[in-house]
Amino acid sequence: MRKKILIIGGAGFIGHNLAIFLKKKKLDVTIVDGLNINNLEYLKKKYNEFPNPSLTKKILLNRLKLLKKSKIKFFKIDARNYKSLSKIINRSKAEIIIHLAAVSHANKSNKDPFNTFDHSFRTLENSLDNARSEKNNVKKFIFLSSSMVYGNFLTSSVNENTRCYPIGIYGSLKYAAEKLIIAYNQVFKLPFVIIRPSALYGERCISRRVGQIFIENALTSKPIEINGDGNEKLDFTYIDDLLQGIYKSIISKKADNQIFNLTYGSGRKINDLIKILKKNFKNVKVKYKKRDKLTPYRGTLSTNKAKKLLKYNSKWSIEKGYQKYINWYKDFYFNSK
Ligand SMILES: NC(=O)c1ccc[n+]([C@@H]2O[C@H](COP(=O)([O-])OP(=O)(O)OC[C@H]3O[C@@H](n4cnc5c(N)ncnc54)[C@H](O)[C@@H]3O)[C@@H](O)[C@H]2O)c1
Repeated sequence: MRKKILIIGGAGFIGHNLAIFLKKKKLDVTIVDGLNINNLEYLKKKYNEFPNPSLTKKILLNRLKLLKKSKIKFFKIDARNYKSLSKIINRSKAEIIIHLAAVSHANKSNKDPFNTFDHSFRTLENSLDNARSEKNNVKKFIFLSSSMVYGNFLTSSVNENTRCYPIGIYGSLKYAAEKLIIAYNQVFKLPFVIIRPSALYGERCISRRVGQIFIENALTSKPIEINGDGNEKLDFTYIDDLLQGIYKSIISKKADNQIFNLTYGSGRKINDLIKILKKNFKNVKVKYKKRDKLTPYRGTLSTNKAKKLLKYNSKWSIEKGYQKYINWYKDFYFNSK
């Protein structure tokens, strides 16, 4: 029998890529998404907040088209609504729940803590409470946390045993979420996997994190703005590496009740991304701005634990992964004009 997977927040950047990837691995995938944060319904309401709204809309519609093409079951539901979510979890007979729904942006979370709590924490508690119910069949609960739980990295590399001192609403809520999941395991024996990714980039992202903004600005002839001097390092991770790691944590028993860093596994300077960008776009203008005090200084997330327990093997350096992403963005942009 094919393993039944339910992805909550499954039409987001990670979610739709993951759903398609797992379907190719012959798993039985259902997704739930309200499209209400960083997605089509949100875009409808806040159209003028987006610098390139028509491009954003085309990317989001493309996600839905690909989900449909892969025959992935999709329920448009607000996961803050306990009863609606209960029905789907029960009907889907999911053995694995992957919880992705959130306000997935640190600056936005700091600007709107109320909404962030609602979409990130309320939805999580609804998922957990349904997952532990004996009426359902959930064998494992997978949660996407973040490198932001660590706060400022005090060493150039951190591992899963490094103490966490998150800064701001996003990182603190992620850390609280990890604790809640561990508590559900202590009280109800619900097996979990907590995954800490960092600085993700890849096809059909609209989240306006560095990797994406840089390309979109280069395509639309706008200057690239960097907070700080660009020498700060981030563990840039191409989406396919994360997908491989999530898949391994689904199929491996060794993943149960563990926390994993899932990144490329090597911090790189923001200026290194700019070098790759400049090879692809002439006349890229870069402006350096004062950095935000609430952004922690980060670096490498060690992936040794995932390598050892899951045989995780990251494959995409920025030279390969960012170049692939630029090629896709250029094609999509010019073909959709
Ligand atoms: N992308 C990254 O770099 C990154 C890094 C670390 C962690 N994460 C975490 O991974 C998860 C997924 O990130 P993403 O980049 O795909 O974000 P995303 O914003 O693209 O996707 C989140 C999805 O959740 C949905 N959602 C939000 N509230 C909902 C609700 N109440 N009901 C139903 N659906 C709802 C949204 O509509 C959206 O489609 C998030 O928890 C994020 O914090 C992402």
